[in-house]
Amino acid sequence: MNLLEGKKGIIFGALDDKSIAWKVAEKCVEHGAKITLTNAPVALRFGKIQALGEQLNSEIIPADATKIEDLENLINQSMDILGGKVDFILHSIGMSLNVRKKRHYTDIKYEWMQKTFDISAISFHKLMQTALKLDAVNDWGSVLALTYIAAQRTFPDYSEMAESKALLESFARSFGYHFGTLKKVRVNTISQSPTKTTAGSGVKGFDEFFDYADKMSPLGNASAEDCANYCVALFSDLTRYVTMQNLYHDGGFSNMGMSEQVLRS
Ligand SMILES: NC(=O)c1ccc[n+]([C@@H]2O[C@H](COP(=O)([O-])OP(=O)(O)OC[C@H]3O[C@@H](n4cnc5c(N)ncnc54)[C@H](O)[C@@H]3O)[C@@H](O)[C@H]2O)c1
Repeated sequence: MNLLEGKKGIIFGALDDKSIAWKVAEKCVEHGAKITLTNAPVALRFGKIQALGEQLNSEIIPADATKIEDLENLINQSMDILGGKVDFILHSIGMSLNVRKKRHYTDIKYEWMQKTFDISAISFHKLMQTALKLDAVNDWGSVLALTYIAAQRTFPDYSEMAESKALLESFARSFGYHFGTLKKVRVNTISQSPTKTTAGSGVKGFDEFFDYADKMSPLGNASAEDCANYCVALFSDLTRYVTMQNLYHDGGFSNMGMSEQVLRS
């Protein structure tokens, strides 16, 4: 316990108590961190983040992660509220317009695809670039984003989110180089098991796929709570030399070819 004592952080993406970011925020505070919470203005209206803010005694600062001025305001305000530079940032943001509007991958609307990339991947670069320019992250800080194995393997219903995740993971490596050499800040992505959240359940056939992944993984699907524990470890000083990595948190799924459980079902 108290792995994050004295540390300060910004958590993006808590919409409701199923959100992975919600669990990460709870665990960070449990481990002694002070945090600010943020989400898109529309999510603040429809989501339940206010309740989380009260529970954790954390301020909520609206920011559309695709808008530089929102990110600047968020980071400056966070430093004011928390009393200085931050030590960790979680990017837990994903949304596909073509998936949401049920456009098939072979009939993509490209304006929507660009918006999807902006929200789900380029926002990560924007966030890191803004944080670097504002010199907002302490030496040996840690920046994390959440991703999915569809960046490496084909999962047809994941559609354009596959390319979003490939781009996101590439930003972690490329920006990780610069953040590391300039500021000793590490940047990683966590590739999480399917998880029953608003974003996850938006993918067609999600429930069937969730069960399949559970049977394919020797340890079963990793839960959002366990993902939060992993995030705490990666924000802590116990992982200071881990950077530019895509780290699987998936119960072993990524190294499987076939399991007896799936064969027999
Ligand atoms: N649920 C899964 O199966 C799963 C698996 C692997 C990775 N992930 C990733 O985990 C992350 C979190 O998703 P989740 O499953 O907790 O779902 P979620 O729906 O709870 O979280 C997605 C968040 O993105 C936010 N968001 C959307 N547009 C935004 C914008 N313009 N600016 C700021 N925030 C914006 C939403 O408001 C929401 O809070 C995503 O990157 C997702 O792709 C999810």
